[in-house]
Amino acid sequence: MTDDLARDFEARFGSPPTHLARAPGRVNLIGEHTDYNGLPVLPMALHKEIRIAVRPREDGQVVLQNTNEFFPPLDFEVEPAIPPFVRGAWGNYAKAAANELARRFAIWRGFDGLVDSDLPEAAGLSSSSALVNAVGLTLGRINEVSTEPRAFAEVMADAERYVGTRGGGMDQAISLGARNRCAAKITFHPLRLQHVTVPDDWCFVVADTGVRAEKSGAARVGYNRRREECEEAFRIVSGELATRGVTEKLATSYAQLVRAVDSETLVALGEGILEGSLKRRFRHVVREAARVEEAADRMLAADTVGFGTLMDQSHASLRSDFLVSSAELDELVAVAREGGAAGARLTGAGFGGCVVALADRWTVGGVLETLVSEWFERRDMTDRIDERVFIAVPSRGASWEPLGV
Ligand code: GLA
Repeated sequence: MTDDLARDFEARFGSPPTHLARAPGRVNLIGEHTDYNGLPVLPMALHKEIRIAVRPREDGQVVLQNTNEFFPPLDFEVEPAIPPFVRGAWGNYAKAAANELARRFAIWRGFDGLVDSDLPEAAGLSSSSALVNAVGLTLGRINEVSTEPRAFAEVMADAERYVGTRGGGMDQAISLGARNRCAAKITFHPLRLQHVTVPDDWCFVVADTGVRAEKSGAARVGYNRRREECEEAFRIVSGELATRGVTEKLATSYAQLVRAVDSETLVALGEGILEGSLKRRFRHVVREAARVEEAADRMLAADTVGFGTLMDQSHASLRSDFLVSSAELDELVAVAREGGAAGARLTGAGFGGCVVALADRWTVGGVLETLVSEWFERRDMTDRIDERVFIAVPSRGASWEPLGV
């Protein structure tokens, strides 16, 4: 793979690449729409990734080509306040990393890069964050930016806001910090990864509806609105708790709220004082955070049924309280369960993209077969079926490696 990419680079740029930057996508196992509320998540990095063959330049240009012709070549200058390409252009994810690094550090050097990926785009598997990370890692290394890894993940999370989505920090943190064979419970402010080994018998199956949810497109509006609703619900509930003297001072984060009051008491309080949609968003966020804590314990105990039940509950809550599911996602979840999965849920922001289902080595064959025969075949979506339905391999995080010359 890498040899092919290096040869392709040389054919396009006239000299061989010196380094390979790679950053994996991720599948979030549980903890959806909690990260931007400062509450925990439990994702794992995938074996699918973005790779960039790199050759540093002596000037400030970033010159990028993509092995996928759908993404046209582009170039730009590394500087603070880089003007974006048109909305939706793939190059904006590269500019996002460059812009943020140039804003914070004295970087000047650009590079020639050839990007390659086996991650589906806009499928809820974080291909965009993987691209931001891979470009960020490259610029960081060739400009000798020294930051501690967790701080770097936070810089990359801020970077992505360049494309207009006010995301949380999950995708960048797991893509940079994951370990082989592990998921990670991630907590925020301060960012912390607790690696949890995925039990040997467990298989997480990913299935892609094929419905695209572009982070920089329509999903952006729905995503940002949810985020504002969560903030609004937080302001009301934290104010009420301070008035009632439950918290001494006004809480400044959801994390403080869930530490001060147990989740069901908090939900009951929300029911009393929040209106319609705010009530439901609040209920989802608080219960989802509790599910993440529980799920990490279930994984440690290799309790497949327990973990699966939490995934089912998460999906039901994302569908009915958070309203980010779709007919296709609900169907795929149901089909995975019919096929014998212990639990299944949409993964990522929702509005399209993928579901993740938990099986074990004995049930996984049935889950895969049922998904293919009951969903993909019926919709005539069997071309490149291995890319649409696959077992996720818990993989290591991003790396920057010299290429043998
Ligand atoms: C997107 C964002 C993440 C997270 C999820 C929803 O993937 O990039 O930060 O908010 O949606 O859980």
